[in-house]
Amino acid sequence: MNSLDGTVLVTGGAGYIGSHTVRSLREAGRDVVVLDSLEFGRREAVIDAPLVVGDIRDQDLVTATCNEHGVTQLVHFAAYKAVGESMEQPARYWRNNVAGTVDLVEACLASGVNDIVFSSSCSVNGTPAVNPVTEDAPIQPESVYAESKAMVERILYWYGQTSDLRSVSLRYFNAAGASFDGRIGEDWTHSQNLIPLAMKAVLLKDRRLSVFGDDYDTPDGTCIRDYIHVADLADAHVKSLDYLAAGGATTAVNVGTGIGSSVYDVLEATAAAAGEPVPYDIAPRRAGDPVATFAEPSYAQRTLGWSAQYGLTEIVDTAYAWHKSQVELGR
Ligand SMILES: NC(=O)c1ccc[n+]([C@@H]2O[C@H](COP(=O)([O-])OP(=O)(O)OC[C@H]3O[C@@H](n4cnc5c(N)ncnc54)[C@H](O)[C@@H]3O)[C@@H](O)[C@H]2O)c1
Repeated sequence: MNSLDGTVLVTGGAGYIGSHTVRSLREAGRDVVVLDSLEFGRREAVIDAPLVVGDIRDQDLVTATCNEHGVTQLVHFAAYKAVGESMEQPARYWRNNVAGTVDLVEACLASGVNDIVFSSSCSVNGTPAVNPVTEDAPIQPESVYAESKAMVERILYWYGQTSDLRSVSLRYFNAAGASFDGRIGEDWTHSQNLIPLAMKAVLLKDRRLSVFGDDYDTPDGTCIRDYIHVADLADAHVKSLDYLAAGGATTAVNVGTGIGSSVYDVLEATAAAAGEPVPYDIAPRRAGDPVATFAEPSYAQRTLGWSAQYGLTEIVDTAYAWHKSQVELGR
């Protein structure tokens, strides 16, 4: 049987990027089953797919889920992602992100699931010496979180040597935005990312955004990042599963637009969406913040036939509409 004919197991599918990917997979006609502990995700974010509530480290549960649903491919989002926390509580990250992945992969392989798409991160490259960042840039993580992603990439590579497993590690740049119909988006409760923080400042009106440094060697003095719409990210997962089903080899792929946007670009786009300026103050630079990082996206086009369809305007407009609706609902 072609692995495209079976079901996709999506771990962390009740979370931010996972829930958008579940929808894209369903729209592409795939059968999906979600496994999420709901430690962070939300039940109502899982649209049009069954949800199994449990932990990726529960191998009996993973095996039973694979068998019951006829799983042939895995998309693995489930992980902790707070960089600061990972430096304070590293064991949580080694256990969940690294050891948890090993438990999951072992259970999947035992159930005959050999195709895996893994949520990696551009943070595996640390502070890149050269932009745009290519896939062969040095791996130099600067946090326990980033190291956990780099380690899993290597572990998946070695499973490719010791078993039939083939994997695509997608190195996301800065995931942002919400669904165009406003049904799902990012939970800003724990997020330390610029766009949700800018949205909080403009919508809640009880705080000011801190801009960490405006004296960098960039055109407007603020840091530059590659913001990628969550719908584009979701599409990259659908295409990665197609690639693996067609026999594609294990690889790691940058998922970005190739366009760098500054902090002030984001604030300008947010002000345009909100119809009012974002209140902000300049704060000192943060240790470890790269001045600029943006992707070289051509390998994704060549390998997966994927390229970003949306830019900063769509990202900020959908994020603003989503967060505004959540505030109005009192969430
Ligand atoms: N958001 C970003 O900008 C970004 C960038 C690069 C990489 N990533 C990676 O992408 C993935 C998804 O990120 P997100 O932003 O959607 O995060 P998220 O926190 O919204 O989603 C992660 C989901 O995984 C679940 N989960 C965590 N540990 C689990 C476990 N042991 N068993 C079962 N479920 C578990 C959580 O309940 C949550 O629903 C993560 O691996 C993250 O490291 C995210």
